[in-house]
This record gives sequence, C-alpha cells and structure tokens, in this order.
Amino acid sequence: MQILSDIAELRTTLRQLRSGSERATHRSVGFVPTMGALHAGHRSLVQAARQRCDIVVASIFVNPTQFAPHEDFSRYPRTLAEDCQMLEAEGVDVVFTPTAEAMYPPGASTFVEVEGVSDRLDGASRPGHFRGVATVVAKLFHIVQPGLAFFGQKDAAQVAVLRKMVRDLDFPLEIIVCPTVREPDGLAMSSRNRYLSAVERRQALTLSRALHAAEIQVTRGEHRASALLQTVRATLQEEPAIRVDYIAAVDPDTLLPIENVASGALLAVAAYVGTTRLIDNVLLAAATGNTVVPGKKKS
Ligand code: PAF
Repeated sequence: MQILSDIAELRTTLRQLRSGSERATHRSVGFVPTMGALHAGHRSLVQAARQRCDIVVASIFVNPTQFAPHEDFSRYPRTLAEDCQMLEAEGVDVVFTPTAEAMYPPGASTFVEVEGVSDRLDGASRPGHFRGVATVVAKLFHIVQPGLAFFGQKDAAQVAVLRKMVRDLDFPLEIIVCPTVREPDGLAMSSRNRYLSAVERRQALTLSRALHAAEIQVTRGEHRASALLQTVRATLQEEPAIRVDYIAAVDPDTLLPIENVASGALLAVAAYVGTTRLIDNVLLAAATGNTVVPGKKKS
C-alpha cells in the first residue's frame, strides 16, 4: 500500500496503476473519502470498493472548511497510524493524505455550493458545512478520478448533497451508498463516538431505539410522518440527557419534509449527548402489498 500526500505524485501513481502492465484493459478505481479515525463503518466502505473495483484509493483529510469555528476541528480524532494499518489489512492500494495547504492553496477562493439541499437537516444546523463537504469532495474527485465513490448511509444528508453535485456537474462517476454499520447494541458507528463517556454512550443508544420504535410502527401500518416523528420525539424525551437538534421525515433526495411515508422516506435525527452531536437515520421502504387495483380482487 502506498501512502501519498502530494497531488502530482498521486496522479502519476494512479495513471500507472490504471494502465496496469499485466492487464491491457483500463482498470477501475474505487474511492473512499474519509476524515480518518476509521471504524467498522469505513471498513465496510473499503470492503465494498475492494469487491467492485480493481484499484482502491482511500483519502484521509480532516477538512477544515466543513467545520464552523466553534466546532470540533482541532480536537477531531487523528489516528493516522492505526487507520493505515486497517486500510492495508483491507487491501487498499493507495492512501491519499494531503495537507491543508495542498487542498486549499493560498488564495484559493473557489467553492462548490449545492443550493437548497445544503440548507436542510445538518445543513440547517451547521451553516456552511455542506459547502465545505462539496468543495473538498469535488476536488478529491478531480484528483482521484474514480469510477465509483463509496459513502455511508449514516451521513444521509451528505449523500443527498453529493449525489446532486455529481448529477448537476456531470462528474463521470457513480456514488455507492453502503448501509450504516452498528454496534451490536444498535449504536451507529461514528468517529465521534469516541468522545462519549461510558454513561453518555448508554444514553446515546436512545437515538437508534427511537428510530427503531418508529420503524416498528411503520410495519404495523402507520404511515403518517407526524405520528412517527412523535414516537421518535417521545422516545428521545425518555432520556433527559439528550438535547434534540432535529427529527425529520424527508424525501431522501431533496431532504424536503414529507407527510406520508407510504412511498418511502428518510427518518433522521440529530441530537447532542453531552457536548457530542450524533446523527442517525433509517430509510423507510415504500409500502407494498396494500394496494388494491380498482376492479380487481385482492388475492
Ligand atoms: O464523511 C466524511 O468523512 C467527510 O464529510 C468527507 C466526505 C470525507 C469529506 O470531508
């Protein structure tokens, strides 16, 4: 596995790997962008890339432009040695670890703004966050030029923003979204989980429990978003240490609120446990088997 921090060197290396000497055909590149502090969720993205692509590239870059001044940029966990060990064990070919100066050279003033969708869910609570995400991911896509790029469903709003960016700007790649990986007790994997004390970690379980309670309600035929949101809210309120940021039932592409989840929906929460902001979500599938075609008997 090669670890490269220079953009030109990465480009040269990828050019050589793509036109690999043993195979005449052009080799596919799968890309997993990360901010490091890797966990089993990232591992699943790398494994998905390894299965589908000839060459796997991961990046590790704690992107300053997606953090507001009061957020956790300076204390965001940086665990490069362990991260590289995991990536090597998973068969990653190249790790890209650029410096902030390489990604944002002095005087850089070009940003990617995915209007509308960037202001919803996490974008509403964290103004400017998705401008930072879209800008750095666009730049990484230009540098790595992957055919497939892998992201986690846990960051559902990020997925919506990046999918739209790829469509709007015709990036020649496909975004693959991998399911949220959870601890055995249901807690969604997150680099920020390591901020939690043992007590807070227990309290944090309320997020997945609340979403699960709503999912069960859906299986029992409840499709009104208001009822599901009330269930999530009531479950979260059972844990006084939790401060809710948002609870939302939205269209997964536009992130606009929906009233009825029968055609599918993203049910998402963000909440603070202590000073740690956590997010989680479930994708509710479209209801099936309950449509009666006029004039036909339901079998
Ligand atoms: O999801 C993340 O870790 C980051 O937002 C990303 C996509 C690597 C951009 O910095």
